[in-house]
Amino acid sequence: MTTLQRTVGAEVTRVEGREKVTGTALYAYEYPVPDALYGWAVQSTIPRGRVRAVDAAAARTLPGVIAVLDSGNAPRLHPTDDPELAVLQSADVAYRGQIVAAVVADTFETARQAAAAVRIEYDVDDHDCELTDGDPRIVVPDTVNGGYPGHTENGDVEAALAAAPVVLDATYTTPPEHTCAMEPHATLAVWDGDSLTLYNGDQGPWMTAAKLAGLFGLPEGAVRVVADHTGGGFGSKAVPRPPAVLAALAARAVGSPVKVAATRQQMFTMVSYRTPTLQRVRLGAERDGRLTAVWHDALQQSSTLAPYCEQTATPARTMYAAPHRRTTHRLARLDVPTPSWMRAPGEAPGMFGLESAMDELAVRLGMDPIELRLVNEPSVDPESGHPFSSRNLVACLREGAARFGWAGRDPAPGRRREGRWLVGTGVAASIFPAITWPATATARVEPDGAFTVRIAAADIGTGARTALTQVAADELGVGIDRVTLDIGRSAYGQAPFAGGSMGTSSWGWAVSKACRALAKRLEESAGAIPPGGLEERADTAEDVAARREFSRHAYGAEFAEVRVDAVTGQVRVDRLLGMFAAGRIINPRTAGAQLRGAMCMGLSTALHEGLEVDPRFGDFANHDLASYHIAAHADVRDIQAHWIDEHDDELNPMGSKGVGELGIVGTAAAIANAVYHATGVRVRDLPITLERVR
Ligand code: MOS
Repeated sequence: MTTLQRTVGAEVTRVEGREKVTGTALYAYEYPVPDALYGWAVQSTIPRGRVRAVDAAAARTLPGVIAVLDSGNAPRLHPTDDPELAVLQSADVAYRGQIVAAVVADTFETARQAAAAVRIEYDVDDHDCELTDGDPRIVVPDTVNGGYPGHTENGDVEAALAAAPVVLDATYTTPPEHTCAMEPHATLAVWDGDSLTLYNGDQGPWMTAAKLAGLFGLPEGAVRVVADHTGGGFGSKAVPRPPAVLAALAARAVGSPVKVAATRQQMFTMVSYRTPTLQRVRLGAERDGRLTAVWHDALQQSSTLAPYCEQTATPARTMYAAPHRRTTHRLARLDVPTPSWMRAPGEAPGMFGLESAMDELAVRLGMDPIELRLVNEPSVDPESGHPFSSRNLVACLREGAARFGWAGRDPAPGRRREGRWLVGTGVAASIFPAITWPATATARVEPDGAFTVRIAAADIGTGARTALTQVAADELGVGIDRVTLDIGRSAYGQAPFAGGSMGTSSWGWAVSKACRALAKRLEESAGAIPPGGLEERADTAEDVAARREFSRHAYGAEFAEVRVDAVTGQVRVDRLLGMFAAGRIINPRTAGAQLRGAMCMGLSTALHEGLEVDPRFGDFANHDLASYHIAAHADVRDIQAHWIDEHDDELNPMGSKGVGELGIVGTAAAIANAVYHATGVRVRDLPITLERVR
């Protein structure tokens, strides 16, 4: 870490900021492709069964309708490991809202009108859309999302609980949630012979291209994904979703470019959601607070199509030292859309359970909740036994407590009253794995001294493009104004998605390596650049594989101060303060925005968000932003994200961990714990709505 000093760590403003605020930044739907037609999905109105007949006669008579597709006439796709992407390949209906037909027309309005005119007859089967414990079909998967084992067992947790002088046994629930990215999912598909260009709102252009190539049986490179700008994703754009496949399929069928844009309402069933969870947490402790047993059991749902199981109980494997531990994930396959990633999948709901339970245990022990966490700080990862590459949870708790003003807090609930408001404070910890995947990048210099770095990264609003520009400029030893970062295109080579908070660390390593190689070439040639320019390509596969075994995670401590209306039960969040340890912060401006944004999303989780399942129809009742409420920054009076100066040489050349998801993880528990402190009411079911507080 010798060269990454000049702009890495500086508050650089977004390099594409001007393009975005002047409206010249192009998003998927806006690329000027001549003669593009418009595709519109027809979604099933039953939760389970089979399409018996599609009557498209009325739709076809509308002027401007080019085609009506269904599973009988749509082009065939190759088998896929993601059955959600087998769009129009079967007449079977696995959930309400699944794509069962589609219209292609010459205008957006005609496509929409024609889709409404398509009549579908179904054979209807019984359905089950309710997640209930005790369902005999519930299974424990071998592995869960992220490749972690579904079940782990250390020591004898039941004996330890039976022997523990203090036991906490509580059940927590979180509802299904929707990502609601600001840019609705949109795709423009353009075929040229057997090659496909997909303009797509996308978190991972290279991975999407590989997936689409597989679906259409094409060689790698025959599909090119362009995602120069993406308006948020939160996991929903990390892999292609059904509307993207529909665009490619429809364009193939009609022989013209086709655009598909999901409406906000359609997004609620077509582009994945966060699973609901039902978590039972059992903690056994000595009277001094030392945990003897940790048992975290998480029940979740998936569709009948795919067994997506979120890693909800994995934080309990790493957070606290306890000799006896058991973590279990259980999965119910229901007649629902397949859930998938939403910001901190697993960690966010799981830490609501675990960190609420830790707070309840602290109350039972008569112990300060920060102190309880301090006495259970492990020296190595409790599950793997590996040393931590760095772990500064203790520093986050201490430093955060000092900034927040935790000292002198009266632990008794319901004591602080300001007029009609009951006031309370709460704390919870955050954790998120520091993941790095291999990536490739190219660094190039032109004879005029301009540098271009190409990598198939995606900036979904995170500031990744800016952070990578900083990394490149420092490795090249030039100012950021001399470096252009070209991202968002699959053609730039293998690269992971903007997911798992691994983007900047993974891409940055490849950028750093390519730029370092180019700088060396320039040094060897004493700065002379041949007329054709100079180029270096880097691949970090071997570097990533050669890393030593460590437990690599980012940590944080989140503090909340809430006011609860003693009459109505309304909760307002006056203060949120997060203190994080996430390695080297490459850009304090954009990283701070990521952390505060995630904390705000956590506030939203705590107080507002939740899809309401209507078991009669097997669908979510709330389908828009009027009925699915999302918090904004104005919903918290004072929000602060800080970080400690953390140095970790076991990560990547930047020493960075990742900040996209860390901030959401502890927020909901911190707020629930503060609500308890304010009122004496323990709310174990999210969101914390009025009737749950009173
Ligand atoms: Mo993020 S939910 O890992 O895309």
